Amino acid sequence: MRGANPIRVIIVGFGVVGRGVARSMLMERERMLSTGMDLRLVGIADLWGCMVDEGGLDIAELCSLDGVLARKTSIDKNMSSYDLIEKADYDILVETTPTNKDTGEPGLGHIKAALKGGKHVVTSNKGPIVLAYGELSKLAEENNVRLCYEATVGGAMPIINLAREALAGNTIISVKGIFNGTCNYILTRMVDTKLPYEHALSEAQELGYAEADPTYDVEGYDTASKLVIIANTIFGMNSKLSDVEVMGITRVTPEAIKLAGDSGYSIKLIGEVSRDGSLSVAPRMVPKNHQLNVHGTLNAALIETDLAGEITVTGKGAGSIEAASAIMGDIASIWIELYKT
Ligand SMILES: NC(=O)c1ccc[n+]([C@@H]2O[C@H](COP(=O)([O-])OP(=O)(O)OC[C@H]3O[C@@H](n4cnc5c(N)ncnc54)[C@H](OP(=O)(O)O)[C@@H]3O)[C@@H](O)[C@H]2O)c1
Repeated sequence: MRGANPIRVIIVGFGVVGRGVARSMLMERERMLSTGMDLRLVGIADLWGCMVDEGGLDIAELCSLDGVLARKTSIDKNMSSYDLIEKADYDILVETTPTNKDTGEPGLGHIKAALKGGKHVVTSNKGPIVLAYGELSKLAEENNVRLCYEATVGGAMPIINLAREALAGNTIISVKGIFNGTCNYILTRMVDTKLPYEHALSEAQELGYAEADPTYDVEGYDTASKLVIIANTIFGMNSKLSDVEVMGITRVTPEAIKLAGDSGYSIKLIGEVSRDGSLSVAPRMVPKNHQLNVHGTLNAALIETDLAGEITVTGKGAGSIEAASAIMGDIASIWIELYKT
């Protein structure tokens, strides 16, 4: 137990989510301090270098920075992310570098280095959790530290901790839902405008809801990655991306949307994982009055349990502050479990 000592955090990957975490630390500071939780940001790293201050970095100044850290004169360009992770004095690594679904890098190496060094890890990076959850959770256990990844699945929408903590007394039978805001936005706009997929995709790209290369989202692989994380962490399976039957939304036509609509249904990209081991992603008909029929970029998940019946959650699956919400929740859980006196 560290008593009332500050919890020292480093953020590796200071982009959309990393900056959101820093901003949230500032926004929530007074409230957290009133509960005894003194979070201090002592280091950050991006591709260009690192900044370290054991007394705590000036978050307000950092948040005012536009773009890469390289614009900051006090950055140490000779210090790598590994130097920060392995040599700095801190308690929790927040790992928010880009997801690589093939290698998991650079996040996988970062997370392993921190766990081996006896540091807790909180991440929004799906790659390492999809590819190496078993190895990473074993490393965390061996080093008596926590590995938390709520932000990898539903952004602000809680699902991992809800299933593993609040519903811990239940047998979870299945989890299904909408786990990709880009696809949900495109399908929603196809209903609203009656226009084809390509038009809705262009609009989503113009608004920043879809990447320039949208393949990972629209072909269903992002949803499949999230299902693998749910399967392995909630159901204790040992599944891989190749175990998921995947069909994306690129072949959904305006005619199919109209036909479904006329019969009282919406077409949604639904990911589903069941206790029996089946994992699938496909466009499915959802009744218009069903709780999973959420619109725009929203995500929704329905957890089927034996005691509680069906529990549904919905919320924003992406965004700087939204992903930070899940990361801050994980950090707070570590503090409550290990540091709060
Ligand atoms: N954005 C969301 O709404 C959201 C929601 C949930 C989960 N996620 C996940 O969260 C992670 C971060 O997403 P993001 O949107 O914040 O991405 P992003 O804006 O591209 O930021 C990634 C950051 O990582 C840095 N980086 C890249 N390689 C690095 C390396 N080798 N060492 C140190 N830093 C490195 C980048 O540096 P440079 O700026 O110098 O390139 C950038 O600062 C991803 O894995 C993503 O899938 C995102």
